[in-house]
Amino acid sequence: MPRPRLESERLILQKFARRDASTLDDAIRVSLADLHQWLPWARMDYTTVDTTSFIRDSIQAWKEDRAWDYSIRMKEAPGVHVGNISMWTVSKLGKIAEIGYWVRTDRTSGGICTEAVGRLLDEAFTAMGYHKVVLRIAVGNAASDRVAEKLGFTREGTLREELLIRGNWVDHSLWSLLDREYRSLKRTAARR
Ligand SMILES: CC(C)(COP(=O)(O)OP(=O)(O)OC[C@H]1O[C@@H](n2cnc3c(N)ncnc32)[C@H](O)[C@@H]1OP(=O)(O)O)[C@@H](O)C(=O)NCCC(=O)NCCS
Repeated sequence: MPRPRLESERLILQKFARRDASTLDDAIRVSLADLHQWLPWARMDYTTVDTTSFIRDSIQAWKEDRAWDYSIRMKEAPGVHVGNISMWTVSKLGKIAEIGYWVRTDRTSGGICTEAVGRLLDEAFTAMGYHKVVLRIAVGNAASDRVAEKLGFTREGTLREELLIRGNWVDHSLWSLLDREYRSLKRTAARR
């Protein structure tokens, strides 16, 4: 299991607690138009009951070691939820994890997602011993593709009609990063 609280230069990633409902709900509300386009759960009629039930499921998933969701916070304003990042195992045998994320609309393009994924990659490869981490990104989601590129992921190919989003089956790109690639990128960054 990853640690329930992780820090990076500007961010805190923390496991959800019931008290996070109102700031999470606020972030979803201001971001719904963007989230709606790419994430099946982000229906335009999303309610606070959905938020409460997400947090309950998330706490249970941590208990069962099924998935690890984090609330992303800025160190400078730790009371405000700025996004979600989650990790789960897709293959125990292959030691493969997947990461998913979103960032509140009024905080996008500031490098928050890249920093949060970078921190979770460290946990995945260094603390948890995964061999490979994957991202599935809807074809056309240029901001998310850019996050994958900036972190050194390789686009493996297209997963055809992978997810049903707002009544349309949407192709997704599969991006991956291997343990040895991550370590080599870290070594290169440290030499700079
Ligand atoms: C995708 C998402 C998580 C990115 O979060 P973020 O914190 O803005 O990400 P970062 O700032 O680390 O990086 C985003 C990059 O995409 C770029 N970008 C933003 N919008 C873009 C667009 N429409 N076309 C191309 N690039 C775009 C940004 O300029 C930045 O690149 P740069 O650092 O080279 O300038 C956020 O936009 C989001 O939550 N979108 C809606 C939900 C979603 O798509 N989730 C991911 C599902 S796979």
